[in-house]
Amino acid sequence: MMRGAQITGWGLSLPDKVVTNADFAAHLDTTDQWIVERTGIKERRHGGTSSELAIESAKRALDRAGRRGREIDLLVLATTTPDQTVPATSAWVHHQLGCRGAAFDLNAACAGFVYGLVTAVALLNAGHERALVVGADTLSQITDQNDRNTAVLFGDGAGAIVVEATEGEPLILAHDLGLDGSLTSILYCDRGGYIVMEGREVFRKAVRVTVESAQRVLKQADVKAEDIALFIPHQANIRIINAMGERLGIDPARYAVCLDHTGNTSAASCGIALAEAADAGRLKEGDLVLFSGFGAGMTWASAVVRWGGAPEALTGADDAGARR
Ligand code: ACO
Repeated sequence: MMRGAQITGWGLSLPDKVVTNADFAAHLDTTDQWIVERTGIKERRHGGTSSELAIESAKRALDRAGRRGREIDLLVLATTTPDQTVPATSAWVHHQLGCRGAAFDLNAACAGFVYGLVTAVALLNAGHERALVVGADTLSQITDQNDRNTAVLFGDGAGAIVVEATEGEPLILAHDLGLDGSLTSILYCDRGGYIVMEGREVFRKAVRVTVESAQRVLKQADVKAEDIALFIPHQANIRIINAMGERLGIDPARYAVCLDHTGNTSAASCGIALAEAADAGRLKEGDLVLFSGFGAGMTWASAVVRWGGAPEALTGADDAGARR
């Protein structure tokens, strides 16, 4: 039987350094107009390491949930840009936050946050009590800042949520995780190298696989597009988001969009978009949220999530004093 679960906290972290389109236009053959029209991106942030951004966003999520690190027994860190090859970046993040139990990195590229959410909920169902799901990436480190095809697209950041097991309703109504490994060559980064991307091909494939995946979860959850209160797509390109939303029949007023000021933050993007929407009061108890991610692999991940109520509705707090 499925255990209940609920998102009780959220947080994001962006580096201080703002890089505008004008900054790129100053040294590359590009313009603010081209970048805004073709991608929707106006600026992005550069700086920090994936662990620094992960820790900051996680602390905010813990704060929001009224939880301490030691109350977390599962940390899933989705990242494509780990601090080191070995050990996993989650080891340091786990230590810095004072978590208990398990921690691991997950690389599903830009689908990482949604892959992480589904994985964490499955492990809560298997007996873990409280999970931190963090998407953190520093793609500026693996992007050639002199390549106009990729430099303008990516930014750094992290988004985190606390997910707790409850005796209430399941958090995820339906999910769909998948990939097509025959498409590795359209988007990759060799060790020590820079991101190489066939943009047009990624665009085309992304729209097709994400729409099909989203349609599968809507059907599986027996939910209509008009029942979705908030659509949280991977933030790669506003034209991809619009094409997806249009094909799915979701009102643009229900899209969560942050790419205009973050760029594509890879595994962090859905977490950042969620945290911003929740901070803006765009979610209320019982709302249905559709997550949709895609990335190098080519991976995809969709989930229909029911937004929970107040954290007080939860059971199983083992340290009431640590809660606000
Ligand atoms: N400024 C000006 N011109 C540019 C720029 C730029 N920054 N970048 C590319 N161009 C040029 C190209 O060189 C090309 O010129 P050409 O016709 O002389 O060859 C022209 O613009 C048109 O190129 P297209 O590829 O057709 O442009 P498109 O409208 O498809 O936009 C873009 C390119 C933005 C990359 C788009 O294809 C896209 O967003 N693709 C998906 C990318 C994506 O989602 N990547 C992330 C995946 S997630 C992950 O795992 C990291």
